[in-house]
Amino acid sequence: METRAIEGDDRVEYGTFEAAVERSRKIEEDLPKNPKKYRALTGDRPTGRLHVGHLFGSLQNRVRIHELGVPTYVVIADYQVLTDRDVFENISENMRQLVIDYISAGLDPEAGNLVIFPHSHVPELNQLTLPFLTLVTNAELDRNPTVKEEIQAAGLKRINAGMYVYPVHQAADILFCKGNLVPVGKDQLPHLEITRTIARRFNDRFARRQPVFPEPQPLLSKAPVILGLDGSQKMSKSRGNAVMLSSTEDETVALIKKAKTDSDRVVTFDPEKRPEVSNLLLLVSLATGEDPHAVAARIGDGGGGKLKSLLAETLNELLRPIRAKRRELEANPDYIQSVLRNGIRDARAVAEQTLGEVRRVMNMEI
Ligand code: TRP
Repeated sequence: METRAIEGDDRVEYGTFEAAVERSRKIEEDLPKNPKKYRALTGDRPTGRLHVGHLFGSLQNRVRIHELGVPTYVVIADYQVLTDRDVFENISENMRQLVIDYISAGLDPEAGNLVIFPHSHVPELNQLTLPFLTLVTNAELDRNPTVKEEIQAAGLKRINAGMYVYPVHQAADILFCKGNLVPVGKDQLPHLEITRTIARRFNDRFARRQPVFPEPQPLLSKAPVILGLDGSQKMSKSRGNAVMLSSTEDETVALIKKAKTDSDRVVTFDPEKRPEVSNLLLLVSLATGEDPHAVAARIGDGGGGKLKSLLAETLNELLRPIRAKRRELEANPDYIQSVLRNGIRDARAVAEQTLGEVRRVMNMEI
């Protein structure tokens, strides 16, 4: 019996952060020179609106890559929402809000080469999941550190099989369009390793002469981890420590007023000893491009109060055009619909082609 596709290969290697950083650096150098060599695929679960952590951590990176001329696919991973939570009532509204956030942050569907789509509407993509499932072992899926963390974080008692399998579905998200560049954060690296393994094993098993799939590379965002306004945990809407792109200016001021600082009036950038103050400085720095030490020097002995008012002003200024664009798009639901419709149409065309190739090499043509 032939089981070479799994046994003959090494196991999925999780935990190659340094290697990923090094690969990212090389790609960053090459991107402006050869944007058309790449096809970027990235995405989000539609679980809520986006905040400045997303803006600095991933959205700005996507906008930059798209503006460099890299064909860009953005998947809205609605099926993934079902893996770790019961609520599904808001999926379609969240999806709409996600598209509004993307476009407001600068992703421009009118510029071409941009496909935004929910994967639930692209059957040929989903179908790739089935052969892909035969290329990994249960043990490999079981070891995925990000899945383990999510199970812990969600406090799941009965874990549905979708939870273990969604990284394979994610491989279909990436490979349906032969994406070879995946801008992501560190937590997604294990999933990307599964995608790379699946691509390699698929080619090895079914397409020795002419590989069907590329082995996609992660592109790690340069932004450091952004903490919430409490300075102690990751920024997230559910923790109430996030400035949302969709907040008003007054809400932003009020939220930042409540941010934690310390009692030393002289503001300094020292992430180890003064995490709260340093995180606020980092946010100013990400918004203005100024060095965080220089921001601290500018505030001097103005204390937490001055730091907070500076941050509120800076963020409100940065977000003003984004929020204006948001309001404009909110008032135009037909446009959002059309972006999604066009995205689905384009994604399906590509997915049909890929599935055709996949069937051919697997000897499943009629
Ligand atoms: N798993 C990702 C997250 O939780 C979302 C996602 C789904 C994704 N498919 C993807 C990210 C493909 C990058 C590429 O945020």
